[in-house]
Amino acid sequence: MEKLVIEGGFPLKGEVKVSGSKNAALPILAAMLLTDEPCVIRNVPKLRDTSTMLKLLRSLGKTVDVIDDKVTILTKGEINYIADYKLVSTMRGSFCVLGPLLGKLKKAKVSLPGGCVIGVRPVDLHLKGIKALGAKLEVDGGYVLATTKGLKGAHIYLGGVFGSSVLATANVMMAAVLAEGETIIESAACEPEIEDLTNCLIAMGAKIEGKGTPRIRITGVKSLHGVSYEIIHDRIEAGTYILLAAMTRSNITIVNGCYQHLMALTDVLEQAGVNVISDGNNVKVKVKGGLQPVSVNTYPYPGFPTDLQAQFMALMAVTPGVSIITDKVYPDRFIHIAELNRMGANIRREGMCSIVQGIPVLKGAPVMASDLRASAALVIAGLAAKGKTEIHRIYHLERGYENLDQKLSMLGAKIRREKE
Ligand code: EPZ
Repeated sequence: MEKLVIEGGFPLKGEVKVSGSKNAALPILAAMLLTDEPCVIRNVPKLRDTSTMLKLLRSLGKTVDVIDDKVTILTKGEINYIADYKLVSTMRGSFCVLGPLLGKLKKAKVSLPGGCVIGVRPVDLHLKGIKALGAKLEVDGGYVLATTKGLKGAHIYLGGVFGSSVLATANVMMAAVLAEGETIIESAACEPEIEDLTNCLIAMGAKIEGKGTPRIRITGVKSLHGVSYEIIHDRIEAGTYILLAAMTRSNITIVNGCYQHLMALTDVLEQAGVNVISDGNNVKVKVKGGLQPVSVNTYPYPGFPTDLQAQFMALMAVTPGVSIITDKVYPDRFIHIAELNRMGANIRREGMCSIVQGIPVLKGAPVMASDLRASAALVIAGLAAKGKTEIHRIYHLERGYENLDQKLSMLGAKIRREKE
């Protein structure tokens, strides 16, 4: 086990490169199950979660070769239809192999994913969509067994209590591309990662209209061919660096800064007095004077992303005044409050909201990483805080940020790994 030790309290400078998107890579790698032909996927970030997905593809019978950010996937023999518990339970994103396995093999047995610190994380919408396409479902021993004589297109409403679902949209799309007839998905997720998956499926020969919109229309085809595809960059990683720059008053350049996918964040930051500018590919952050508190609700895309909620809370923790933060996607995604308060922040829960009373500066302290994005919030808080911060259980970070400590050291951050 390792920890991160950070000496914070000074601005950073230089250039940081954003890696490929974790949340685009996972469904796109799962989509490789839809063809037996060779596929090459580029800009795949080296993360715990992507390596778990590659292990899962190997366990299902794919041959997987990785050279830097390029993944080559071949099919040498029979594809296995059972996705085993130990891999799916370590990374819930693996659940999105259900749709492609069912679409390609007409059967799939996938372990139900567990919950996690940010919420119960049910899969009822995934199962509703798969069932609507004509699959027979059995839940037994913690597994979902889905079988079909042949999937048939359907008109499916996929909105849930919290709005659209990213991976349920991915699962249903990947089952529908080989189904007979037309499928319309209403209240589909509009996240850029779903748009990227759609582009990849179309490049494999799928017939899909409405990408990136709440209504996706799919006309089933007989089979999909191989593909060579490059994944988009990670807007959440980029947003994390933008919030870091604002918190530490750093003049940094964020290469592949995903500006066009971060309008909800840049709009809120403009109100807070943080100027985010882009020259197309790169993004720069300028903090003019003092910061203003801004209240935020998170929503499905194009709303303010829940995956940047914790990082934004860290910024509001050192912004004079009161801001109210509510997570409409994961109402309980506030485990980072206790840790930020250990650093001197003044944040409290009031029902579904968090009330952030800004203080002048955070103080370094030993803190515990928990969910991936809460951990990122602690890193940027540590870089802004006066003194030393130790962040324990950093494997959470490694799930979704590629070489974060190296990238931050390149910006002049005093950050190092140490054995626990
Ligand atoms: C994806 O998770 C992301 N993960 C999450 O990122 C992200 O926070 C989330 O979308 C929301 O944007 C990946 O893409 C691998 P959802 P997903 O289904 O698809 C409820 C990160 O940090 N819901 O869009 O699992 C659910 O409980 C991770 O990178 C149902 O009720 O999330 C939540 O409240 C964390 N029934 C809301 O919908 C369902 O069947 C949105 O969840 C499915 C979801």
